[in-house]
Amino acid sequence: MVSIDVWNASVDFPIFDAKTRSLKKAVLGKVGGKIASDAKVPIIEALHDITVSIKEGDRVGLVGHNGAGKSTLLRLLAGIYEPTRGAARTVGKVAPVFDLGVGMDPEISGYENILIRGLYLGMTRKEMQKRVDDIAEFTELGDYLSMPLRTYSTGMRVRLALGVVTSIDPEILLLDEGIGAVDAAFLDKARDRLVDLVRRSGMLVFASHQDELLFELCSSALWMDEGRIVKEGSLREVIGGYKGKDPFAHMSKEALERIGESPVLTTKSGEVQ
Ligand SMILES: Nc1ncnc2c1ncn2[C@@H]1O[C@H](COP(=O)(O)OP(=O)(O)OP(=O)(O)O)[C@@H](O)[C@H]1O
Ligand SMILES: [Mg+2]
Repeated sequence: MVSIDVWNASVDFPIFDAKTRSLKKAVLGKVGGKIASDAKVPIIEALHDITVSIKEGDRVGLVGHNGAGKSTLLRLLAGIYEPTRGAARTVGKVAPVFDLGVGMDPEISGYENILIRGLYLGMTRKEMQKRVDDIAEFTELGDYLSMPLRTYSTGMRVRLALGVVTSIDPEILLLDEGIGAVDAAFLDKARDRLVDLVRRSGMLVFASHQDELLFELCSSALWMDEGRIVKEGSLREVIGGYKGKDPFAHMSKEALERIGESPVLTTKSGEVQ
């Protein structure tokens, strides 16, 4: 059984090299976590008193403006950050996909990077060897896979990284957006693999600013603001609250059809949202 439980957790970042004097004069910013400047050292409260419980089969989307705390929460769930106060417990094998480039070595070939990145995401060498051909075909990189990664363009790297990421079998998939550098045609191709990946995983937490992708991959959502959870519930409700308008009102017909057809939208108990 996989599970995530967070109890009254806060994550603070003390900033030792900040210019405190200019802080006092600063205008009230709209983005980012709260900055407490009354102490000697300014502290950014990235997460404030978060309590959340995520169960097997849940697919949760994280929404909120820049600096709201989404990536910090994902890192807390991955065990990369310890809570400054409170507690967090994640049971299960975590595949953290925060930065598609992490774990990639520019000096070794695409093939070798596929293997290394797979190991980083919790797969075994044998499992990765079985998947290499499929990944190679998906990336369409051909002979480039024998070239060192440093010869790749940004989009080519993303293709490789996405090929690997979408080939794994994660218990807990923590996904932070970052697939913006791929061209539209390739994203279409990756979309099906992403949906498949999510279906295979025991649990998903996905931070994103793209409503369509959220609807395709998730079945519920959390809205974060200034390090707090403001609202949780169905995607439509939560995204509607965050954006101040019904998310379906501005989606293209194709997007709505895609969402409507997506089996991922079926909840555990079988009802379609
Ligand atoms: N390593 C760090 N050191 C100091 N402050 C940080 C650090 N990481 C995040 N923060 C601060 O924590 C707050 C939350 O940041 P976080 O990256 O979690 O936001 P986010 O919701 O993921 O935003 P975005 O949508 O832009 O990705 C911000 O105020 C940010 O300035
Ligand atoms: Mg982020």
